[in-house]
Amino acid sequence: MKFRKFLAAGAGAALAFSLAACSGGGAGSTSDSSASGDDGAMMEEGGTIGVAMPTQTSSRWIADGDAVKSGLEDQGFDVDLQYAADDIPTQSQQIDNMITNGVKALIIAAIDGTALSSQLQAAADAGIPVISYDRLIRDSENVDFYVTFDNYNVGVQQATSLLVGLGILEADGTTETGEEGPFNVELFAGSLDDNNAHFFWAGAIDTLQPYIDSGVLVVPSGQTDIEQAATLRWQQETAQKRMEDLLTGNYVGTDEKVNGVLSPYDGLSRGIITALQNNGYSGTVEDGFPVVTGQDAEVESVKLIVDGVQYATIFKDTRKLAEQAVVAATAYLNGEEPEANDTETYDNGVKVVPSYLLESDIVYADNVQELLIDSGYWTQEQVDKGVA
Ligand code: GAL
Repeated sequence: MKFRKFLAAGAGAALAFSLAACSGGGAGSTSDSSASGDDGAMMEEGGTIGVAMPTQTSSRWIADGDAVKSGLEDQGFDVDLQYAADDIPTQSQQIDNMITNGVKALIIAAIDGTALSSQLQAAADAGIPVISYDRLIRDSENVDFYVTFDNYNVGVQQATSLLVGLGILEADGTTETGEEGPFNVELFAGSLDDNNAHFFWAGAIDTLQPYIDSGVLVVPSGQTDIEQAATLRWQQETAQKRMEDLLTGNYVGTDEKVNGVLSPYDGLSRGIITALQNNGYSGTVEDGFPVVTGQDAEVESVKLIVDGVQYATIFKDTRKLAEQAVVAATAYLNGEEPEANDTETYDNGVKVVPSYLLESDIVYADNVQELLIDSGYWTQEQVDKGVA
């Protein structure tokens, strides 16, 4: 038997493919000719799958890598998991090597979503299916499937948490309180080479714009374009520096105070919080510390949320995302197409990539227990210490 019979393992009940007992052969889009593996018995069973992740400086990508690896191993595959230290040539090289080594499928979270066209052409030429992981790979027809979250909605949720924190919306996130401010806010975006950054921004700005237009929200820096708000490579230090510059240029020496900051990722949020603290803002949100949003439920930020310093984050369960990547890879290797639940949203510039989108949740101090601890995402001890 070429590929071992796989089962939609218990926990993965929501598996999005119809379970097919594979009757030998059926390598589907991976023609079994060229991929000559180097690892004997396991190769016979399932082969090696290449997993390319961007960076280990963020706990979320470590969690993603671990979850994808163990999920694939449970299905009988070997895994070549590589991190690229946020360096584009390193990631390209790693993917080149995976292709040369005859991986059966590629799962890629790109650093620069536009930089992998030649690698993906080589993958296509070798019959290797490519699954874009969380970040859409752009400008290539050789992206077979995309697993991600509803990224526009993530942006809506980020903006909603800012509005709730400022008291403009009730805790339900929809009912207006009638609070008219005005509140001073500053806006941050992610890395412009990451397709997600544009979706987060669009969702957030669409939600905030009516309040900016009505004067409930004011952006004293005037920096309301994504290009001005962007943070190359999502780096914490870059966000800290920009926040310090915003404070120096627009607040220091005036009576104006920052009331809130839209941040699209916890790493940036921590840089922004440090800049605020370095400039005399102290205590908790309840004491008047600015409302800072986030994303990823990184444990360092979850601790800050419990401590009342960061206001909110967005929880995207990387275990579920990893599971969908495993489902998609397994489907391809059984000669099937993975099941998409969205075939309209993610146009990569060349084609609309069939996608499987997951939902996300807003985390506030009062639902950390339910969303993150009871679900086993973090332990109480990890949250208490702020360390994974
Ligand atoms: C995005 C991802 C976010 C966050 C960010 C920085 O692509 O969707 O969840 O992790 O990268 O790593």
